[in-house]
Amino acid sequence: MTWLIVTGTDTDVGKTVFAAGLAQALGAAYWKPVQAGLDGGSDSERVSRLAPTARVLPEAHVLQTPCSPHEAARIDGVTIGTLDLPQVAGPLVVEGAGGALVPYREDLLAADLFARWGLPAVIVARTALGTISHTLMTLEVLRSRAIRVAGVVFVGEAEPVAEGAITRIGGAPHLGRLPWLEPLDARTLADAFEAHIRMDLLA
Ligand SMILES: Nc1ncnc2c1ncn2[C@@H]1O[C@H](COP(=O)(O)OP(=O)(O)OP(=O)(O)O)[C@@H](O)[C@H]1O
Ligand SMILES: [Mg+2]
Repeated sequence: MTWLIVTGTDTDVGKTVFAAGLAQALGAAYWKPVQAGLDGGSDSERVSRLAPTARVLPEAHVLQTPCSPHEAARIDGVTIGTLDLPQVAGPLVVEGAGGALVPYREDLLAADLFARWGLPAVIVARTALGTISHTLMTLEVLRSRAIRVAGVVFVGEAEPVAEGAITRIGGAPHLGRLPWLEPLDARTLADAFEAHIRMDLLA
């Protein structure tokens, strides 16, 4: 059964959009353990719109401030607990907050959580300048914790030099590139997945 973590090189790289397309394509449930900040709606709400048949599980914590979960929790006076994986029978897509070393608590980084869960991770990376170093660093962080990397998904304009460098130097499968979609909706996302994402390497 396919259970995958969707992490990224940074916040705002396109994890939610990719995770929605993935949940829809796999017929998977989607879970965002901690939502920090609600401006423009939660990630779970956006997945509900972009992946209309996916089952969206409730977050463990919904915090008000758009910042690192450890700080958003402090501001709200909330203690983030153990964040155990939900019990679901079928496939599951889990979206982390921000990048791989984001703190959920001062003693719990995102990658530590991923390692405890023992699930493979997909890295979502921009194609924009700076992506080679950010993506290779993310690969090192995950592998240093023995987290299996299912591959890297790129978002944005094609940048064959950067994409090739990352996948060769990082030794990670290229899972495809989502172009910038306008409009972005359930239909255009499903079509882009069909055309551009290597589901054969993920399912
Ligand atoms: N392929 C795409 N086409 C069009 N817009 C996109 C695409 N990918 C991402 N976006 C837009 O870019 C913004 C950031 O994307 P998204 O919310 O998926 O990032 P994120 O990595 O999940 O961020 P966070 O760290 O806050 O969870 C959103 O406004 C989203 O709609
Ligand atoms: Mg997101």
